Amino acid sequence: MKIGIIGAGNIGGNLTRRLTALGYDVSVANSRGPHTLTALAEETGATPVAVIEAARGAEIVVVTIPLKNIPDLPPGLFDGAADGFAVIDTGNYYPKERDGRIAAIEDKGLTESRWTQQHLGHPVIKAFNGTYAQDILDKPRPKDDPERMALPVAGDDEAAKKFVRDLIDELGFDTVDAGGIDDSWRQQPGTPVYGLRGGVDAVTKALAGASPKRPAAFRE
Ligand SMILES: NC(=O)c1ccc[n+]([C@@H]2O[C@H](COP(=O)([O-])OP(=O)(O)OC[C@H]3O[C@@H](n4cnc5c(N)ncnc54)[C@H](OP(=O)(O)O)[C@@H]3O)[C@@H](O)[C@H]2O)c1
Repeated sequence: MKIGIIGAGNIGGNLTRRLTALGYDVSVANSRGPHTLTALAEETGATPVAVIEAARGAEIVVVTIPLKNIPDLPPGLFDGAADGFAVIDTGNYYPKERDGRIAAIEDKGLTESRWTQQHLGHPVIKAFNGTYAQDILDKPRPKDDPERMALPVAGDDEAAKKFVRDLIDELGFDTVDAGGIDDSWRQQPGTPVYGLRGGVDAVTKALAGASPKRPAAFRE
């Protein structure tokens, strides 16, 4: 199975490492071009590509770039993706430190992933957004291991969500269904589940305990 990864930083780089280790055919892109990804390609066997080529033939496309850069992604981003492809969105809105003010999120109350989905023009599955990048390498555990972490996963396309949950299971994590994309405020920055290292019960409880009010630290 082919997986395209757009963004080769902390999260994109480590997903490239793990998914190639599992035997997936990974294409990876960043903003500066494939010639800047030769070290990652040599390390992992992934294929460095231009952004517009990352989704070609892919059954899963991971978009893992700073939120403020989502509108810069080119039209036709998903042209040539496999039938029924799923898009994983790992993004978070950090208005103070990185992204600046995004009015649709702050004033209209759109979830971060609803905003991203609107820009991408394709349903997204929100996953990994509250996962420390290093944990992708360090924390995978076999099924039924008592230490196995669970990750919340939200999205409207049920088939795509199942596809993504199965992949995360293969990566060594349990998942908890966190609802649709308009429910995904429950896993945004500042919520109890964000950065939580816990199993299914702890993640389920944390999602239930979230407040819809955006914390001051994550408003501009
Ligand atoms: N770091 C974490 O532990 C963590 C955890 C969970 C979620 N997240 C979220 O996941 C997203 C990515 O985080 P990160 O820490 O991996 O970011 P990062 O280390 O800053 O890497 C960002 C990557 O995105 C690429 N990029 C930026 N603009 C692009 C564009 N227009 N087209 C193609 N590629 C572009 C960059 O390429 P260049 O280097 O070539 O510019 C870089 O490879 C963010 O929304 C972040 O909040 C991060």
